[in-house]
Amino acid sequence: MNPAEYSLADFFYSDTDDPTRPPPEFAAWREAGAWAMSLMEPALHGPAVPRVEIHRAGHDQKVINLSSYNYMGMAHHPEVVEAAKMALEKYGVGACGSPLLSGLSDLHRELEEKLAAFMGREAVMLYNSGFGAAMGALAGMLRKGDVAILDAKCHLCALDGAALSKAKRVFFDHNDPASLDDALTKSEGKRRLVVLEGVYSMDGDVADLPALMEVTRRHKASVFIDEAHSLLVYGKKGRGVAEHFNAENDIAVMFGTFSKSFAGVGGFVAAKKDLVDYLRYYSNPYGFSCALPPSVVAALLKVLEIFQRDDSLQKRLWENTEYFRSQLIGMGVNIGESTSQVVPIVIGADRLMLYQLCHEMNERGLFLAPVDYPSVPEGQLRFRSAVTAAHTRQDLDDALQIIEDTVVKRLKEQGA
Ligand SMILES: Cc1ncc(COP(=O)(O)O)c(C=O)c1O
Repeated sequence: MNPAEYSLADFFYSDTDDPTRPPPEFAAWREAGAWAMSLMEPALHGPAVPRVEIHRAGHDQKVINLSSYNYMGMAHHPEVVEAAKMALEKYGVGACGSPLLSGLSDLHRELEEKLAAFMGREAVMLYNSGFGAAMGALAGMLRKGDVAILDAKCHLCALDGAALSKAKRVFFDHNDPASLDDALTKSEGKRRLVVLEGVYSMDGDVADLPALMEVTRRHKASVFIDEAHSLLVYGKKGRGVAEHFNAENDIAVMFGTFSKSFAGVGGFVAAKKDLVDYLRYYSNPYGFSCALPPSVVAALLKVLEIFQRDDSLQKRLWENTEYFRSQLIGMGVNIGESTSQVVPIVIGADRLMLYQLCHEMNERGLFLAPVDYPSVPEGQLRFRSAVTAAHTRQDLDDALQIIEDTVVKRLKEQGA
């Protein structure tokens, strides 16, 4: 078997007679492609900061990290770590219960209130996972007979939430107001919810809210936005792309994660109080799963405080982003439609080359994650880089040099 001829999309269905027995071809493929697979699931020996040691491709390696979503550089901020430590001492390890029954602490309530004020919304509810929050909020609102109208590039958490709800799922062409208009016209008379992302996670481009909101306003359709990658990054106050485009009044439900700019874990939904009160009882990943550990909540509160008092963080992130993107473009790298700190390095359809280059970069000391089909289209395999406020110019220059010596060199040799 030539593993490069197959992808994860080929092993979804199985001929076995028992669901606990995955397709044997999958194991054979994994074995044949062990060399590529060894790049996946790397283990960091320290925090997700710009220089870290990782165990990857069978050995330990010191690397420049362009893969972690530590956008504001908070993953190892001394005040954040101290806040978590103090809460760990006071509250212990786990919340030991679902938020509905016993899992909330005064810290959780404080974070709900502070985030609601920060987001300019009536209420906030916290989830122990970003994925669970988006999936659970959508499944908690949509019902059979409703129509979920999703941008074609929405994250799996939105797709899964809409599927779980049994609402009809309709996809409109990415960022295309005419296609959205068409979907809304065809679903006239139904309860509809339009689902968008602020920054699209695989491409790093931004929702065209001015054009899209004109359409949703005209159709009087409600909007759910996933600000996972845009929270703290976009908007003067850091509320995301909706704030950036002054479109917050057009959006009924804001969703964000704590795993990216907040450098923690978990997610939240910010909306009107009546909806949040309802979702607390009808969004199963909230009511039927343990609350966030208090030490994590304390860390998140500290990140919010630091972000609100230090306006240099967002500025530094954008300076780094603009520098990195302009250098890549200058080197002739295809960064697709990215306009944000999420910067794909698109190499095309050659799967073998994707993993070869990933190995080469890893050996040279650059930690970049490969993104393969079906996460991205077959002809647009890529590396996805995440620029942070914590990267120094030296970090970025060293990373750029490695990219030039590996990716750019190879693509030039191939005449691309
Ligand atoms: C756009 C988007 N939404 C939601 C999520 C899920 O967030 P989390 O990783 O915090 O569960 C992700 C994760 O990468 C994402 O990229």
